[in-house]
Amino acid sequence: MVRFAVEERKEWRWWVTPKPLAGKPVHRWYVFPHSFTSDLVHALIDEWGLTSKDRILDPFAGAGTTLLAAKEKGIPATGYDLSPLAVFVTRVKIANYKGSHLKDLWSRLRRGIHPARWTGAAKAYPDLVRAALPGKMLAAFEALDRDIAGLDATRTERGFFRLALLATIPEYSRAVAEGGWLRWVDRRRTTVTLLADLTEKVHRMLADIEESPGRDEGAWRVQAGDARSLPDTAPSYSAVITSPPYPNRHDYTRVFGVELMFGFLNWEQTRRLRHQSFHSHPEARPVRPDTNGYVRPHRLARAVAQIRRKEQDPRVKEMIEGYFLDLHLVLREVRRVCKRGARIAFVVGNAQYRGVPIAVDELTAEVGEQAGLKCEKMLVARYRGNSAQQMGKYGRNPSRESVIVFRRP
Ligand SMILES: C[S@@+](CC[C@H](N)C(=O)[O-])C[C@H]1O[C@@H](n2cnc3c(N)ncnc32)[C@H](O)[C@@H]1O
Repeated sequence: MVRFAVEERKEWRWWVTPKPLAGKPVHRWYVFPHSFTSDLVHALIDEWGLTSKDRILDPFAGAGTTLLAAKEKGIPATGYDLSPLAVFVTRVKIANYKGSHLKDLWSRLRRGIHPARWTGAAKAYPDLVRAALPGKMLAAFEALDRDIAGLDATRTERGFFRLALLATIPEYSRAVAEGGWLRWVDRRRTTVTLLADLTEKVHRMLADIEESPGRDEGAWRVQAGDARSLPDTAPSYSAVITSPPYPNRHDYTRVFGVELMFGFLNWEQTRRLRHQSFHSHPEARPVRPDTNGYVRPHRLARAVAQIRRKEQDPRVKEMIEGYFLDLHLVLREVRRVCKRGARIAFVVGNAQYRGVPIAVDELTAEVGEQAGLKCEKMLVARYRGNSAQQMGKYGRNPSRESVIVFRRP
């Protein structure tokens, strides 16, 4: 069995969670349930001595933490994500704005909003969206979205207000994201408070703008892309700071189903995104590039055999196997697009199924080495407890959450 150097970094334990982002300007505009914190990105940038001559890659951009944190430090960065919501959120966060002009635009937009016209939604939305925003609620969100789209402003400026609107949806939706799942709640909110809540959100965002650095915009870029086949043709990155979805069955297309189908995709497109996403949940069935060169690690084969004896659903085994195939492809792509000597950090969380532990950190290190990277160390940031249900059945079995550090030879 291959062994890797392990270092405890307990002082990073909150940085592998999104909690501290709630207090950080611009980052807090929109947070993903599994985001890490900008402090982690800043610490790695400092530890690696990156400068404005470097370029950082995040192939799983999510809510844009790496890109925005890189911008705060003046280091150019590029991000990709399969989800149009993630690309949109990241793009809005890394843009430069003129606060005074945005304030004028908001006054103009605000004057053109007429709640009396929030009667019926014009578009045919999927059932999930209609059930989550029942009655006049959906019509109200749609009308506000239309008012923003009709604003005489740049695409970037309209994006700013649209993000405020999207960030308001969870406060009104009856489908609430909880621990990576959607839970239905009997929430009796009406449209009466919607405009006041949106106004408050816009004001809070405007207050952050004054503090956000106005750097050369072209240096920070995000676009739709699959981490398993990146569009880059030449090695151009000197660092990677990223976090793939954890293999914990959480499906981003479900957690953000309302936002995705309200603002970006129809039902069929959402289903396709679900299938094509990283194999971190049982409903994924991605079409992959060839996986030549991948050899299934022994410890993975052993764990899968144990799980197969206990788990009826064959998709769980497929998910675990597929997860490491996907990781292999991403790490291979990372090797291809990184310059020699590049530093690479993957934030990963261990998992367990039916009481069988899967050491995602060690397996990531092993699969990365197969892909041609050198694992320097595993930085253990925290130990997560298993769910109360799992604990009752299998005992206390904390899972490591770690940062795997590679170097491109
Ligand atoms: C753990 S989140 C990243 C969170 C991010 N580090 C942050 O701080 O906000 C993982 C992201 O991977 C994206 N994703 C899933 N499959 C992907 C793929 N094949 N290629 C690129 N992105 C993918 C999801 O849409 C999600 O935004």
